[in-house]
Amino acid sequence: TILILDFGSQYSHLITRRCRELNVYAELMPCTTKVKDVKFKPKGIILSGSPYSVYDDDAPHADPAVYDLGVPILGICYGLQEMTLSHKGKVEKCDHREYGFAQVQISRFGEGASSSVDALFEGLGDEMQVWMSHGDQLSEMAPNFHVIGRTSTAPYAAVAHDSKPFYGIQFHPEVTHSPRGKEVISRFVLNICGCRTNWTMEEFIGKEISRIREICGPKGRVIGAVSGGVDSTVAAKLMHEAIGDRFHAIMVDNGVLRLNEGQQVNDMLNKDLGVNLTVVDASDLFLSRLEGVEDPEQKRKIIGNTFINVFEAEAAKIEAAAEEEEKKGAEAKGKIEWLLQGTLYPDVIESISFKGPSATIKTHHNVGGLLADMKLKLIEPLRELFKDEVRALGRLLSIPAPLVQRHPFPGPGLAIRILGPVTREQVKILQQADNIYIEEIRKANLYNQISQAFAVLLPVKAVGVMGDKRTYEQVIALRAVQSEDFMTADWYVFPADVLRRISSRITNEVAGINRVTYDISSKPPSTVEWL
Ligand code: XMP
Repeated sequence: TILILDFGSQYSHLITRRCRELNVYAELMPCTTKVKDVKFKPKGIILSGSPYSVYDDDAPHADPAVYDLGVPILGICYGLQEMTLSHKGKVEKCDHREYGFAQVQISRFGEGASSSVDALFEGLGDEMQVWMSHGDQLSEMAPNFHVIGRTSTAPYAAVAHDSKPFYGIQFHPEVTHSPRGKEVISRFVLNICGCRTNWTMEEFIGKEISRIREICGPKGRVIGAVSGGVDSTVAAKLMHEAIGDRFHAIMVDNGVLRLNEGQQVNDMLNKDLGVNLTVVDASDLFLSRLEGVEDPEQKRKIIGNTFINVFEAEAAKIEAAAEEEEKKGAEAKGKIEWLLQGTLYPDVIESISFKGPSATIKTHHNVGGLLADMKLKLIEPLRELFKDEVRALGRLLSIPAPLVQRHPFPGPGLAIRILGPVTREQVKILQQADNIYIEEIRKANLYNQISQAFAVLLPVKAVGVMGDKRTYEQVIALRAVQSEDFMTADWYVFPADVLRRISSRITNEVAGINRVTYDISSKPPSTVEWL
């Protein structure tokens, strides 16, 4: 295991990902973690970058005991500066912030220089393009360190300790803008730390299934919500593999799902994958509570709360049915003790950050409220995984490819894509337009190039002409974005003919729509969803 100490850089989770891509398990912990509190023995430590300056009054610092663990340490950007400072070197503000590409010359420079290249850069040539993003840099190296890389403006762009396996680099090897950065991380993790490459999804499945069986015991029962998305489907299938029908999945049809979603989830999860599933049609209840509501946060709240009500009622029915069977002489089923949640690692990272969870711009729908009322314990089999790992896991669990690659879909569903009040008629219009849009994207083979695509129904009417008649109808906006993590996103550049086909089909096939527009806003300043 590699321990990554997070000083708050926006790239910290990428370091974790790069290690995992090398099949090495890596765990991110807040930089303030005390060495004595780390429950495993890391084979190496990486100190991340940070938005702080090491000299800031409130700058975060690592437990000095990390340097006495006797394991290799790699400091990246702020991590290098932190390591330098704690070894009595000096860090100063640069005259200018360095942000962007730089060329690092690789060699051993300075006193006692030899031509031999350090293990960190072995086989990477004499020069390497890297990505820099910093306002401070080393003005003096710590004693007993030497330079192994420099740029035209940073004489200490990479340093190494003379006798200990301590390294520091000013650039960011974890971002894709450093094309050979992955190899630098590989030199550190595999060659210098000697980590084993045993983090694979095949191993994960086996271990996780045993862990779930152990947690649940021979009788314990688990309940969980599925939405038709990747995470909940993979989590549900994994539970099914582990404890079979003692896992019960519930899909709540809230009336604002995509076209035929309830049926499709039922066919796939229950018929094809064999998961014990109940689909509850609660669309009347949801739509009646949403009547006349325009405010997006209000819509989210109503959907979140109604979901909890419906889910609890359904869970109670399942429990009651089990008791009924028991009365008739069937073998006693255990109580429902656990609630399955498809929490992923990025959510875990977010909640363990030393800065505390970041400010929420929209209250994202979650089912956390269920726990308080239902007295259930939480089981989260995906909490160690990144999204791409969940997808790999899904493929191994025989979940169909189109589902594994599916774009995310928000909990409040089409309610936050219908601007203005939500009615059954509006839902129907949007479902049809969205379905055509996605169908054409798939036909053009563009689905996997886009991170998220969907249609939005605007609460305005525009004039059109159909046949010889004037029309006065609603407008559909199309959105498609590319994004790494949805914190930032760029609008997708469609080939014109694809947009033309989509527009023509929507205006021809969807009654009530006479105009289609394409959204060309990036995030920031816009968000992905319109509400
Ligand atoms: P925004 O609109 O915040 O979207 O840029 C970023 C990602 O989050 C999804 N999203 C939600 N997901 N409940 C969810 O489960 C919500 O209330 C919600 N709002 C936005 C959005 O679809 C995108 O993937």
